[in-house]
Amino acid sequence: MIADHEARTGGHAPSRPPRRNRDNRSAMASTQTLSHVYPIDSRLNDRGRVEIGGCDVVEIAKRFGTPAYLVAEDDLRARARSFRAAFEAAGQQDFDVLFASKAFPATAILHLFAEEGLGCDVASAGELHLALRAGLDPERIVLHGNARDDGEFAMALDRGVGLIVIDNFDDIERLERLTNARGGRPQAVLVRVTPGVRGDTHEKISTGQANSKFGFGLADAAVAIERVRTVAGLDLRGLHFHIGSNLLDLEPFRAAISAIAQLGDFPVYDIGGGLGVAYTPDQAPPTVDDYASAVVDAVREELGRGKRLLLEPGRALVANGCVTVYRVVSVKQNVSRWVALDGGMSDNLRPMLYGARYDAEIADRVGGETLVTLAGKHCESGDVLVSDVLLDDPRVGDIVVIAATGAYGHAMANNYNAVPRPPVIFCRDGEARVVVRRETLDDLHARDQ
Ligand code: LLP
Repeated sequence: MIADHEARTGGHAPSRPPRRNRDNRSAMASTQTLSHVYPIDSRLNDRGRVEIGGCDVVEIAKRFGTPAYLVAEDDLRARARSFRAAFEAAGQQDFDVLFASKAFPATAILHLFAEEGLGCDVASAGELHLALRAGLDPERIVLHGNARDDGEFAMALDRGVGLIVIDNFDDIERLERLTNARGGRPQAVLVRVTPGVRGDTHEKISTGQANSKFGFGLADAAVAIERVRTVAGLDLRGLHFHIGSNLLDLEPFRAAISAIAQLGDFPVYDIGGGLGVAYTPDQAPPTVDDYASAVVDAVREELGRGKRLLLEPGRALVANGCVTVYRVVSVKQNVSRWVALDGGMSDNLRPMLYGARYDAEIADRVGGETLVTLAGKHCESGDVLVSDVLLDDPRVGDIVVIAATGAYGHAMANNYNAVPRPPVIFCRDGEARVVVRRETLDDLHARDQ
């Protein structure tokens, strides 16, 4: 079983060198354990195969085909509970944990988090539609975005979304017009602030710096706050920031909280998401408990007591609870040893977009000393899922597991090369069930007119 698993929910550093430490590797094989990048309660079973949620992944791959996203349902539930528990333990009385639905926008995932007592954040009409269909309470949905049109705002207003986060002056104008036309109870809103804080993460997912496309800088935020207060249809409750994603250091959260203190005193503060996770065994990100105490302490010290806090974790709730299984289709040796899989950048865009590193294993021969590159099936040289990884002499037909693919994997899947998107399969107590079916070839032209 996995040691210290729940304590480790951290993140990745895209530019890190190859991950695996050989000593650690053989120790893992001999003690029949998997590292903390795998879902909670994953293990090697007595046949020496990776088991997720009690399901032998080789059997699951045979039964449902590859590639496929396998989600350990209990892992997600445990992480949802640990988020709530961590804020309670940190002494925060009034708070809500909102799953950032963009990280894994599937009905079953949203439904699971609703069952675990979470609300959610959405950033488009589509995400709002999914959340409502999954049974999320509209009152506990927060709508974000830097480019929402009248239609998206109208949908949010009509469906009774709890909070709308104002990102720019055009939002204020739109919402004034739309709320005037509707009358009724004022819409509760937050103003999104860009606190001028840069977390240590990939530039494409950094959002707190002054030159961000999101939110108002501190000077503009002060103007926006005054402006919102003049709109009868809007009820300003507080401030929001999201400084970036996959943050492995907690200091920027304090810096951001401290920066927004100058904007006045509000009852509600939404701290966004951003807590990083471990993608490779060498990574030890902050624990959820560390994160909760850092945030709660900083809020108390910088903003005062008795505040309502909203948290929007995405990655930290879903990344490590999911693995993707692939089949090896070909093996080629030139300068490198290329092991080509039956998926790639269509099911996991993150290596291509952010240079993200992942951990991989052959499902029934964990460990090994053959240095290979796991390539995808797409028509681009950059379509590499994991470069320079040590595996046990991969052969055609082997099942390969790539860990920690739950966050933004399914979410950013696409049909490049007209490759159908994989299914999402929940695994729990040895039972597997498909919650999103595999796309078919006919789905690829389903929208043709
Ligand atoms: N709240 C807001 C307003 C956000 O923009 C985001 C993420 C979150 C919460 C959740 O952040 P998390 O806890 O997951 O870090 N596609 C990228 C990640 C983009 C994140 C965008 N916003 C990736 O694959 O790394």
